[in-house]
Amino acid sequence: DLPNHFDRPVHIAVIGGTGLGKIEGYTPVAALQPMTPWGAPSSPILILEHNGVPVAFLARHGLHHHLAPHEIPSRANMAALRSLGVRSIIAFSAVGSLREEIRPMDFVVPDQIIDRTKGVRPFTFFEGGVVGHVGFADPFDAGLADVVAKCAAAMRGDGVKLHRGGVVVCMEGPQFSTRAESNMYRAWGGSVINMSALPEAKLAREAEMAYQMICMATDYDCWHTTDDVDVAMVMKYMAANSENAKHLVGAVLDELCKQENSDLVLAKHLAGTVQGAVKFM
Ligand code: ADE
Repeated sequence: DLPNHFDRPVHIAVIGGTGLGKIEGYTPVAALQPMTPWGAPSSPILILEHNGVPVAFLARHGLHHHLAPHEIPSRANMAALRSLGVRSIIAFSAVGSLREEIRPMDFVVPDQIIDRTKGVRPFTFFEGGVVGHVGFADPFDAGLADVVAKCAAAMRGDGVKLHRGGVVVCMEGPQFSTRAESNMYRAWGGSVINMSALPEAKLAREAEMAYQMICMATDYDCWHTTDDVDVAMVMKYMAANSENAKHLVGAVLDELCKQENSDLVLAKHLAGTVQGAVKFM
């Protein structure tokens, strides 16, 4: 039983998607249950430590994977992380591939998003008299992406294949796409498709947190007519790939914890960019 308090600021967070529940080499030292003006987060936030550096870990779909993509309390999740002091987030997500060359089990570090959510998920902190607009031309963080790409390159010998850059289409779900939609997303230039990039990435930007998603391909989406996606397929590839995912995130965290990366981790490049930034404490 872990303590439910932690007295130092935590600058780095990992958001685990489907299938990523543990991180190599990191020991849990606390389990926090922060409450926010937007409710409670998806799961208790685990504080993990490695060489004295604390990292927050949040299971996006809940500890028992009981939250569907449209049920995830993203505002509570992001506000809770921010209130712990988090400034940089590495977010994992299982994705369908929209490209032949992105094979199941490959990793993708996307640099763009196409929003195909339906506006039913609460997607902003700015409302009820708080007016704010943030730039979102580049929704992900290039500095964090560099670190991920470097760590993945060092793991090539272990069979880790990572595609640098790409467009993630974020759809509403929970149903998968029709074949016509899947083909349309390909024509639009989509690389991969998921149900989780948004509103997380938007809320991170509003809270001045650097955010980079690491996508793990679990299937070819249904444009690829040999084997239509279903949940069993996603879970099968996820299980097969989870060791690689754990090693990769461990390596990324070790790199981020280095002194030379402290400005990046503290998101100094984002500080003060959001007018009327919501106070999360
Ligand atoms: N997550 C994993 N595979 C997916 C797919 N094909 N479409 C949407 N979300 C996904």
